[in-house]
Amino acid sequence: MKKYKIAVIAGDGIGPEVIGEGVRVLERVAELDGGFGFEFTHFPWGCEYYLETGKMMPDDAIATLSEFDAIYLGAVGYPGVPDHISLWDLLLKIRHEFDQYVNVRPVKLLKGAPCPLKGVAPGEIDMIVIRENSEGEYAGAGDWLYRGQPNEVVLQTGVFSRKGTERIIRYAFELARKEGKTLTSISKGNALNYSMVFWDSVFAEVGKEYPDVKCASYLVDAASMFFVKDPGRFEVVVTSNLFGDILTDLGAAITGGMGLAAGANLNPERRFPSMFEPIHGSAPDIAGRGIADPLASIWSASQMLDFFGHECWGERLIGAIEQLMVEAKALPSDLGGTSSTHEVGDAIIAILEKYR
Ligand code: NAD
Ligand code: IPM
Ligand code: MN
Repeated sequence: MKKYKIAVIAGDGIGPEVIGEGVRVLERVAELDGGFGFEFTHFPWGCEYYLETGKMMPDDAIATLSEFDAIYLGAVGYPGVPDHISLWDLLLKIRHEFDQYVNVRPVKLLKGAPCPLKGVAPGEIDMIVIRENSEGEYAGAGDWLYRGQPNEVVLQTGVFSRKGTERIIRYAFELARKEGKTLTSISKGNALNYSMVFWDSVFAEVGKEYPDVKCASYLVDAASMFFVKDPGRFEVVVTSNLFGDILTDLGAAITGGMGLAAGANLNPERRFPSMFEPIHGSAPDIAGRGIADPLASIWSASQMLDFFGHECWGERLIGAIEQLMVEAKALPSDLGGTSSTHEVGDAIIAILEKYR
């Protein structure tokens, strides 16, 4: 029987609370299926580990993780450790070292999810945002000159390589073709006169190979406006690292909130493990109270099942999340309920029992 080896990095704040539920759900899915299993290995890395050891993870962490089929990550970052250290030495390091250059973020309004937009029905927001995840504005390139002096200068360089730009755009075209959906590129060629002019030209160039895919291209400011005014116009979306980061929090806001938003960091060639995570952070404001919403983590578990080829279970998990919200008997507090993180996990598992 196939046993998937999963490295669990629950991380900080609400990370362990929500990931605990995702692990329980995955274990139950494997039992119900009977044809595959999971072997979870927990790594205690994160900000507490940093305060004890001076490192977010050990020096050989990347070698250790490379032996796994996937990484399941909660959240990283906590007051007491500067965010640029905690994130660069763990989350961003893993994304970069494992060349997880595709970040797949579904922005989908499920039945029962609260939507702050007027007159938008479930199903009317149904996007897949493909965020470039390896370079762009988050390449970590730059300099800090004359620190603390009156002539101080900082440079944060956006890095857009031909390889990096082409492969993410091609991935999005392939996905749009496979799903029979439109593809929208979001960029900013009017002001970013090198990087985004280049991005737009690569989009046009690659697009010639996909005459069957209907395309659109928006400036990011206008796209943000349309995310709110007319989100139905977007199906598959491809965009740069920074724009994708910001737009998917906006996407979360219009489809039920951060407690529901999931993301998959993929190395499509499968040379390295891919990583699955809720896109929210460690939520220090509610950490330790057992009230965090685990649905984003469970949604990202469904992305993991899809990636392993168990799309049927991936869909069933989304169905279970939807049923939970429609029934509204075991809702977490961010969705207006009073159920604890653990009770929401229990309720999802109870819904899955119909597949016994
Ligand atoms: P955040 O996502 O942690 O929280 C934003 C707001 O959303 C908070 O009010 C929080 O309570 C709420 N929220 C988030 N997830 C929730 C959930 N599952 N259930 C209920 N409410 C939820 O963002 P932030 O406050 O900007 O960042 C906090 C820390 O997390 C920082 O250190 C930041 O760098 C880090 N961070 C990490 C990741 C990651 O690990 N992937 C992502 C974003 C932020
Ligand atoms: C996300 C997060 C990270 C990102 C941060 C924590 C570095 O906000 O996954 O969206 O910007 O990629
Ligand atoms: Mn983000």
